[in-house]
Amino acid sequence: MNAHTQTRDQLLRARALKVVPGGMYGHMRAAGLPPGYPQFFARGEGCHLWDVDGRRYIDFMCSWGPIVLGHHHPAVSEAAQRQAAAGDVLNGPSERMVELAERLTGLVTHADWAMFSKNGTDATTTCVTLARAETGRRKIIVAKGAYHGSVPWCTPYPYGVTAEDRAHLITFTYNDAASLEQAVAQAGDDLAGIVVSAFRHDYGQDQELPDAAFARKARALADAKGAALILDDVRAGFRLTLRGSWDLVGVQPDLSAWSKAIANGYALAAVTGNDRFRGAASQLYVTGSFWCGAVSMAAALATLDELERIDGPARMRAMGQRLRDGLAAQARAAGIGIRQSGPPQMPTLLFDDDPDTAKGYLFCQEALKRGVYLHPRHNMFLSTAHTEADVDAALEATKEAFAAVAARA
Ligand SMILES: Cc1ncc(COP(=O)(O)O)c(C=O)c1O
Repeated sequence: MNAHTQTRDQLLRARALKVVPGGMYGHMRAAGLPPGYPQFFARGEGCHLWDVDGRRYIDFMCSWGPIVLGHHHPAVSEAAQRQAAAGDVLNGPSERMVELAERLTGLVTHADWAMFSKNGTDATTTCVTLARAETGRRKIIVAKGAYHGSVPWCTPYPYGVTAEDRAHLITFTYNDAASLEQAVAQAGDDLAGIVVSAFRHDYGQDQELPDAAFARKARALADAKGAALILDDVRAGFRLTLRGSWDLVGVQPDLSAWSKAIANGYALAAVTGNDRFRGAASQLYVTGSFWCGAVSMAAALATLDELERIDGPARMRAMGQRLRDGLAAQARAAGIGIRQSGPPQMPTLLFDDDPDTAKGYLFCQEALKRGVYLHPRHNMFLSTAHTEADVDAALEATKEAFAAVAARA
């Protein structure tokens, strides 16, 4: 193929290979997706996304979570632009920081205070550091297979990571109270914190909502040991509820990590905590050149206002359920076994008898050809921009994608 017949995406990939390691890195590498998925995108509007070759998709990944109100939401863009005109990265924070901390402590049930950074990993790492700082202990308990970020203490791909980086991590199985008890026993009197995800959203696995008895046990064990219960709400935060995801099972963490949906695509993360950890949080030295940027905080204020005004979580739940019901009916009619799991706002679709994800890949590829961007292994994301008409249009494509899977079986 010469340069005239190559797509723009192919040309960019070839150029990137020369100047970007591997052409792309991390979770957004298209190499991990079925053939035909674009690597490069040109723009987004509402629940639609355009790749660099001008193909339009109904987007069910929402930038892997950040886009919660739809791409380029007018109220968020307007708030961000207004702040940008006044100033973004200054010699200190703007008023927006105080307003946003007030907003979060008003919304999030367990929160007495908030502090800000840029990425989810910043927030989870700060939570772990705070747990150690307050307790003076070392051990951190995490669920096997859970994702909390891409730095040495927690990356799932420990390339370049030393044993010492993970020396004080102990694992348990999500929703398994006995395994958590065992991990706590193993930590002995050196337990600093227990980290839990909002629900079990491990890559390539059926998702599991938190069992209320398990959540209460995690709280009780943390209390009994004087350790921190840390909720990693980076992925689910503000999609399931605005109050903190474990509020839905009646359990409050000591510390929560937030990012992704908080500012509808503007780079921002937050840690919220209760008064027990206020002292440690005031002493901890954590910072970053861009952490006080006012534009993303203005965007967050507009995002939270809009999510609250329209009851965003309920709206996303309804559209996710419509998609789920439609997919279930189509799979049944095609005689294909599928499993749908997770909250409807963050659905995961896996095929039965699909050990190498061949069916999932084919299904997603066929949907993509028809203008619907899905993921074969990761949980997907709804936004409040998805309407009934968008979901129904996506279902027209998935009906044909199921037919392709049936024909290949
Ligand atoms: C549950 C969870 N925690 C932490 C992170 C890390 O966030 P970031 O990639 O913004 O550093 C992610 C990112 O996907 C996540 O899903």
